[in-house]
This record gives sequence, C-alpha cells and structure tokens, in this order.
Amino acid sequence: MDKREIGRGGTRVNPIGLGCMGISAFYGPPMPDAEATKLLHEAIALGVDHFDTAELYMDNEEQLGRALKGKRDQIFLATKFGPLVDWSTGRRLGVDGSEANARRAVEQSLRRLGTDHIDLYYLHRPDASRPIEETVGALKKLVEEGKIRAIGLSEASAENIRRGHAVHPIAAVQTEYSIFTRDVETKVLPALQELGITLVAYSPLGRGMLTGALRAGGDLAQGDFRASNPRFAGDAWAANLALVQAIESVAKARNATSAQVALAWVLASAPNAVVIPGTTKLANLKDNLGAAKVSLSAEDMASLNALAAQVKGQRYDEQGMAILGTSV
Ligand code: ATR
Repeated sequence: MDKREIGRGGTRVNPIGLGCMGISAFYGPPMPDAEATKLLHEAIALGVDHFDTAELYMDNEEQLGRALKGKRDQIFLATKFGPLVDWSTGRRLGVDGSEANARRAVEQSLRRLGTDHIDLYYLHRPDASRPIEETVGALKKLVEEGKIRAIGLSEASAENIRRGHAVHPIAAVQTEYSIFTRDVETKVLPALQELGITLVAYSPLGRGMLTGALRAGGDLAQGDFRASNPRFAGDAWAANLALVQAIESVAKARNATSAQVALAWVLASAPNAVVIPGTTKLANLKDNLGAAKVSLSAEDMASLNALAAQVKGQRYDEQGMAILGTSV
C-alpha cells in the first residue's frame, strides 16, 4: 500500500504505524526494556516508520528514546502534551495547553526521546480553559524554533480544528476511529478532508476487542485500564463480542485475520487516514502490517458499517469521556 502524507505536502509514512502506549502503560505491566527495544527494532526493520507516544504514557518516551538511538533518522516520531497527572495518586489534574506548559513539556520530551526535534507534536486533549488559538500560537513558535516539525490536535472538535488551522496549518488530528467508534465521521472527518489534514486513527482495533483475541470476562492483566472501560464491562463485553463475529466472517471470506479487516476498514473508510494499532508482540505486529494487502468489497464494508450503531457502552469511562470535552 502506498505511503500516506501527514498533512498536505507533509512527510509520507507507512499507513500502518505503531501506537507505543501499551508497551509501557495502561495495558498492565510495562514490557521489560530489552523486549521493548527488540520489538521496536523489529518494527523498523519491517518498514514501520511512524511511532506514536505521549508525555502521559509513563516511561514510554524514555523507552523509545533508548530503543531509537542511532535509528532516529529512519522514523517519523510523534508525541503529545497537555494532560497533567499527579502520579503519586494517579489523579488527573486537567489539561494545560498554555505556552509555559508546552515549553516545559517539549523540552522534557526532547530529552526523554533523545532527539533534537519532534516530527509531530499534539495537544493531547482539549484545554477548555483557553482558546485553541493560544495553544496553536504557542506550538507555532516551537515550529519556528525547530523543536517540532508539525502540529497536531488530538480529540479536537471540528470547530477547534478550523480555528487552530487558521493560526498555523494543523498536519494531523488524532482520534479514536474504528469499526466500533465512528463519531468522527459526522463533523471532524469532513473538516479534515476539506483542510488537507490527516486523521491518525488510534485504537483502530477497539483496544483489542475487534481482533477477537480477547474473550469476555478474562484475559485482562492486573492494572489493565480496560477493566474499567464500559465496552469491556460484563454484559456489554459479551454483546460486543457477538458483533465481532461479523468481522470474523468477513475475515474468513477474505482469507485475512479480524485485526487486518479492522485496519483495512479504517484505511478504506478514509483515504486521508493512517492507523496506529498498538501491540507488544512481534506476531501481532506482522499480522497488522498484513492489513495493507487486504481489500474489502462494497458488501464487506456495508456489513462492517452496520456494526457501530449496535455497540454497547461508551468508549471511555466517565472520567475519560469528561476529558474529551466537546471533541466531536
Ligand atoms: P491502542 O490504541 O489503545 O493501543 P488498539 O490498537 O485498538 O488500541 O489495540 C491494542 C490491543 O490490541 C492490545 O491489547 C494488543 O495486544 P498485544 O500487545 O498482545 O498485541 C492487541 N492487538 C494488537 N494487534 C493484534 C493482533 N494482530 N491480534 C490480536 N490482538 C492484537
């Protein structure tokens, strides 16, 4: 599959990148350093060139920094700032999109990542306390100073995307987008297509649910945040897995895996999208890269398109939904 650009005229990347969060955070215990480094090196060797992390992902930036030593030039590196957490209690402290916080955060990310520039720097969540123009204005200065190459927004509303884009071109908007989560199609995706902005689709595998590999009621490690995610709650999980069978049927007919169908669906639904599935396993990474060869028929798309309306549970718990603000 051809590479896709990040922002109009921007860097072209493999449409299947790697979301690195799960290597270090939120899906149970972090991977041991040596294993994580091995996986990241294997990913690069297999042609993955877009790596996504964030200040919020605990030790993930440091992990990437160690693994990417000597390989920085081969990859497009994206990270994010904004949400603040009291790590001693785990309490979320809101989102700070101020220039002062952007400057603090970018310096720390550059140090942790062991690089002198970030290819794509996102505001990770909306900061309802200030106009988006202020944050994008601050990021524009970081572009001019060479610390970041492009600006992104994550979970931003169509209105904020337009307003931010008027201050400085927004290269990418990162939002959850998958067969089960299609809110973005109403207003955000049309705005992105009009403005030449790339959609970076996170959780394209529905946090693993769409792959069919997770069976209801078990399979979640200690500390896995999905245990409090409404879609993985008892009855909802069972009901959602029944929908996953429709993905499995398409996969069988296409001689593909469900994960590949889920990724191919995103790439077919939005020609300006790239996906960043997360994985900690080489076999799954290879499986995901195989999605580039899967083409779905109009009938496949129609049967997959019918599923989102039947999904049980919101995509985050209440705290997670609240921080999205009016993102759609
Ligand atoms: P996120 O954006 O949060 O990383 P995601 O990409 O939708 O979410 O899904 C990530 C989950 O899917 C992880 O739990 C990952 O588990 P492993 O680390 O065990 O791989 C799982 N996953 C990723 N690719 C997979 C594949 N091809 N088959 C089965 N599970 C997969």
